[in-house]
Amino acid sequence: MKPYYQDESVTLYNGNCLELLNTDTIIVGAADALLTDPPFSFAGGISNGVASSVDSQFFLHWWKSVAPLIVETVQETGEGFIWCDWRSAPIFEAGFRVDQTYSWRLAQMLYHHRQMPGMGKPFRNSVDTIAYVRGPKSSGSRIPNTTLNWISDYWYYGKHANHPAEKSVNVARQLVEWCSDPGDVILDPFAGGGTSLIAAKQSGRKAIGIEMEERFCEVIVKRLQQQSVQFGDEDRTSCARCAPEYTEEAAKTAANIPMAALR
Ligand SMILES: C[S@@+](CC[C@H](N)C(=O)[O-])C[C@H]1O[C@@H](n2cnc3c(N)ncnc32)[C@H](O)[C@@H]1O
Repeated sequence: MKPYYQDESVTLYNGNCLELLNTDTIIVGAADALLTDPPFSFAGGISNGVASSVDSQFFLHWWKSVAPLIVETVQETGEGFIWCDWRSAPIFEAGFRVDQTYSWRLAQMLYHHRQMPGMGKPFRNSVDTIAYVRGPKSSGSRIPNTTLNWISDYWYYGKHANHPAEKSVNVARQLVEWCSDPGDVILDPFAGGGTSLIAAKQSGRKAIGIEMEERFCEVIVKRLQQQSVQFGDEDRTSCARCAPEYTEEAAKTAANIPMAALR
């Protein structure tokens, strides 16, 4: 497949990562490190108090298809980070397990204190959870062992300008620097608004991104070209599967996401 966009640092594909990883388009071993933010909010089988048709079992089934492709695409010496939550983290780890052994494993959990609380009832999330994942031959040597697993005050989560589940470029840049060297290739199979790709580029790395929704690919290209676009409320709701906001409308949309939407 031809890239949707390519510059000296970033190659972006508009498609389904299940169909692009480990193919002639994105070959085995193409990346040195992983930084990604899959659509994990349905891992608990419940969204805003409403049972979701996309439940944990399906999420595990889906992730068990994706994880081996990611593992094959990133070098065994690689490591990286996956945004997750307390429900999805064990599922992400289970996807790395083959029988009784792990190909990759979750090695630590980082907590990013978000200044603006997120979803939840009665408790609202005030942290983003980020799993540190390691390939079987990774060294972890870029991270000084004085480093705490607590990231605070980097970013104000106000109205997202680029994607409903947008993460902080500053945090992403820190993660990129912890898991790779300049010139390395970062893989993000769930690029969204392109935060990881921008962070990689800003840190002197290369990046391969995949995003299934063309409108977000457009956003990524604009961001890479240093423009910003604003989403209206309608767009934010229709993309609820990434990070539903706490509204009745988002809950209804979330409950009706067809399985195909997560492919
Ligand atoms: C949680 S969002 C990523 C947000 C991103 N971290 C940011 O800061 O903008 C996940 C993205 O993965 C995309 N996606 C979901 N399933 C996919 C698949 N199978 N292949 C490629 N992209 C997918 C969704 O369209 C969504 O934009």
